[in-house]
Amino acid sequence: MKPVRKAVFPVAGLGTRFLPATKASPKEMLPVVDKPLIQYAVEEAVAAGVTDLIFITGRNKRAIEDHFDAAPELENELLAKNKHELLNAVRNIIPAHVNCIFVRQPAALGLGHAVLCAAPVVGDEPFAVLLADDLIDADVAVTRQLIQAAHAQGGSVVGVQEVPRNETDKYGIVASEPVGERTEQVSSIVEKPKPENAPSNLAVVGRYVLEPQIFDCLRRTQQGVGGEIQLTDGIAALLSERKVFAHRYEGTRYDCGNKTGLFAATVAIGRKYHGLTV
Ligand code: UTP
Repeated sequence: MKPVRKAVFPVAGLGTRFLPATKASPKEMLPVVDKPLIQYAVEEAVAAGVTDLIFITGRNKRAIEDHFDAAPELENELLAKNKHELLNAVRNIIPAHVNCIFVRQPAALGLGHAVLCAAPVVGDEPFAVLLADDLIDADVAVTRQLIQAAHAQGGSVVGVQEVPRNETDKYGIVASEPVGERTEQVSSIVEKPKPENAPSNLAVVGRYVLEPQIFDCLRRTQQGVGGEIQLTDGIAALLSERKVFAHRYEGTRYDCGNKTGLFAATVAIGRKYHGLTV
């Protein structure tokens, strides 16, 4: 398997669960303590050795482009006031060897469609996908863990964790057989099954390493759950031609796509890394 150099960040969703906060500002710019969600995901990808960051954006997402761009007026101001720590914080968000590429998803047709929008930029290489609203605090970047599993097994890998049975209808759920300590080979995958129909309680979280054959699968994928083109359905099609694995990553995940998760992340990250108390 070729090295994984590119990561796709689908950020074109509407973020309706945070309205009105997300009316004019992207969900991925919601902060956890002092960094927006998207920056945590970008730092994870860079820590995993990724050099090309591909953002799939939509309307009202300009703030994300601005966040990863230079801010000359702000930088001059901080320099003039000798605020060097803050200057570093705004200047060094992305290392110099890393590129940002922005691709527009013309309409929010679903996560699978968003990933497909990256096809012309990704080309014929394996790539990572990170959903910024899953913030995962880990000693080893979860994307790195998945890339290692993908190379060890020679196939695509989805990040998974066990969830309570009554929550299977919020996730993609896999049926799988263990092939290593933390890795399982996937035999089937289904989007948001009701608990009584779920093949297991092993749920896909927002981390993937995918082989480029996924693009052809996504091109053939019809609208699924919620009328959206689902990445899960594309992966289900990929299973008939390539091996797909599920990796039980090490780390603590906060589902920042909902209010409880964002609140929990803020408290936990604030305590752990900033010495904050409430
Ligand atoms: P979600 O299912 O969380 O949807 O998308 P959402 O629109 O962001 O949020 P809610 O449910 O309305 O509150 C999962 C991920 O897929 C991206 C989102 O930006 C998010 O990172 N996505 C979803 C797209 O990029 N395009 C889409 O068409 C749909």
